[in-house]
Amino acid sequence: MVEARTIPRAQTAPLVTRPVAALRPGRYNRAMPLRFRVAEPADYEEVERLLLASFEPVTWFRRVDEQFGPLNGRDWRERWRLRVAHIFRTQTVLLGEDETRLVAVATGDVDPILRLGYIELLAVAPEAQGRGYGREMLRGMLRHMKQQGALYASLDCLAENDRANSLYRSEGFREVACHIRWLVRIP
Ligand SMILES: CC(C)(COP(=O)(O)OP(=O)(O)OC[C@H]1O[C@@H](n2cnc3c(N)ncnc32)[C@H](O)[C@@H]1OP(=O)(O)O)[C@@H](O)C(=O)NCCC(=O)NCCS
Repeated sequence: MVEARTIPRAQTAPLVTRPVAALRPGRYNRAMPLRFRVAEPADYEEVERLLLASFEPVTWFRRVDEQFGPLNGRDWRERWRLRVAHIFRTQTVLLGEDETRLVAVATGDVDPILRLGYIELLAVAPEAQGRGYGREMLRGMLRHMKQQGALYASLDCLAENDRANSLYRSEGFREVACHIRWLVRIP
């Protein structure tokens, strides 16, 4: 878990964030900050497309297929679609849009008893990665969760996902546990 004070920028900023370029001059050549809004059902098809394209190189679901084949005939894409459909039913889906299009998505929910936000997915469209959108989307989601009452935020990330882990570390997240996902075909 992360104490809110480790993410000082999220404490005062409004939902529409300052451009990341303004925080690190010269790093990104972007005129506009992302605009954030909660997804509506009409957005879901595009969001699903972005999530599958973004996670394709990193998801462990694919490794299951390589080792075990599709699970009961459902390959990793179908399983991701089921996962995303469940997320649409149960979580907040926050969109990050630039001037013209959807470039980033974050999903999650807030446990009101613990005041703990859980971010399940963070993704940037493959062609837009490496330009600061991931950091901006993460900050936007933390602000959104703070507005929903969260004092803390938590997430899981594969140990080998260096890009994402260095993002979280640099945003003040601290590693509190590392788990292994095991799978067996029941004999
Ligand atoms: C992880 C992800 C959300 C980051 O978004 P992004 O827009 O590509 O990243 P940003 O441009 O905002 O960069 C943020 C930080 O990520 C790290 N990073 C970005 N690109 C990187 C690369 N090619 N190699 C290593 N680290 C990288 C850096 O720490 C960077 O900070 P810096 O620019 O100050 O060095 C995005 O790459 C993505 O959608 N990946 C696929 C899905 C995924 O892995 N989601 C997270 C699952 S937990």
